[in-house]
Amino acid sequence: MTDQRIYNFNPGPAALPLEVLEEIQAEFTNYKGCGMSVVEISHRSRWFDDIINDTIERTRRLMNLGDNFQVLFLQGGASMQFCMVPLNFLPPDRSADYVDTGTWSTKAIKEARILGKTVDVVASSEGKNYTCIPHNIPFNPAAAYVHITSNNTIKGTQWNRFPDTGTVPLIADMSSDIMSRTFDVEPFGLIYAGAQKNIGPAGVCMAIIRNDMLERIPENLPSMLKYTTYAAKNSMYNTPPCFAIYTVQLVLKWLEEKIGGLEKMEVINRQKADTLYHYLDSTDFYRATAEPDSRSMMNITFRIKDERLEQRFVSEALENDLGGLKGHRSVGGCRASIYNAMSPGAVAALVEFMREFERING
Ligand SMILES: Cc1ncc(COP(=O)(O)O)c(C=O)c1O
Repeated sequence: MTDQRIYNFNPGPAALPLEVLEEIQAEFTNYKGCGMSVVEISHRSRWFDDIINDTIERTRRLMNLGDNFQVLFLQGGASMQFCMVPLNFLPPDRSADYVDTGTWSTKAIKEARILGKTVDVVASSEGKNYTCIPHNIPFNPAAAYVHITSNNTIKGTQWNRFPDTGTVPLIADMSSDIMSRTFDVEPFGLIYAGAQKNIGPAGVCMAIIRNDMLERIPENLPSMLKYTTYAAKNSMYNTPPCFAIYTVQLVLKWLEEKIGGLEKMEVINRQKADTLYHYLDSTDFYRATAEPDSRSMMNITFRIKDERLEQRFVSEALENDLGGLKGHRSVGGCRASIYNAMSPGAVAALVEFMREFERING
């Protein structure tokens, strides 16, 4: 038990900026003088209209989206997208290319196949234990789309450069690195991200969709599983996850106004990740698990040479107010998730603890 906030390295739900939590707290019982909490107002009210529209506008500005993109808010997590993507964009007479870079892309492939869709796994890093991102991928120019996972939360790898798929639309699961860096959105037909790592709490999934993709969607799908339903109703066909969207709004406000946008955020994220990787590379006691050219800026996965020490590492770190450092149960080891809200000071504190742990146990 502690009466103060710890450094939270959880992979998601994850740390949010303290300013955001305090703002929520300050206006929680009476939202902007309306006499009601933000969790009590109607999603059809002008207050909520302002919230959702401002969240969309901030997304547009932060990601430099053209008029040809729409920003949608869905439920069902990123996992729901694993079935919505093939339902909406993969007709029976076409195939789609998928790149398998570990757990979440494997799940996306599995869901598409459950629907009886034709999925080609055009590249996989399974043979290398998912420690890298594949290169020189033989994409099919006739594919309906190419699906990738831009950051592999569990394996600690990230696409540092997106693949060139020609005219075939790219679809990316950006759950664990959305708004962590700048990139050209134009080749992407769809970007989706569960909010609970970099931009908010669990309960909402952001989708950024290019208008031409909306034209491909068949009519005969259930309303809640069609992107067109959300696009036609400003994501309010039914009651949206109001509180989660409101929190995303405040996180994006922090990103724009306090950090200064994605370019600045990327510089900070790069510095944080470099600090950790430089330390990991400087010692034999620890070992970063991802190959250098595929390393994630968001989830730094590592092992201790003597793996028996890992459990002690995680629990002693927590005693020192550094939480959430256990690797995913499917891979073991350790993982520091350092999303946007994680300060450089927290990373410095982690490195200091790691150095001391090595001194005592090395
Ligand atoms: C890259 C990625 N995709 C998908 C998911 C699943 O997200 P959700 O729990 O929102 O369905 C996660 C969760 O950690 C993830 O990291």
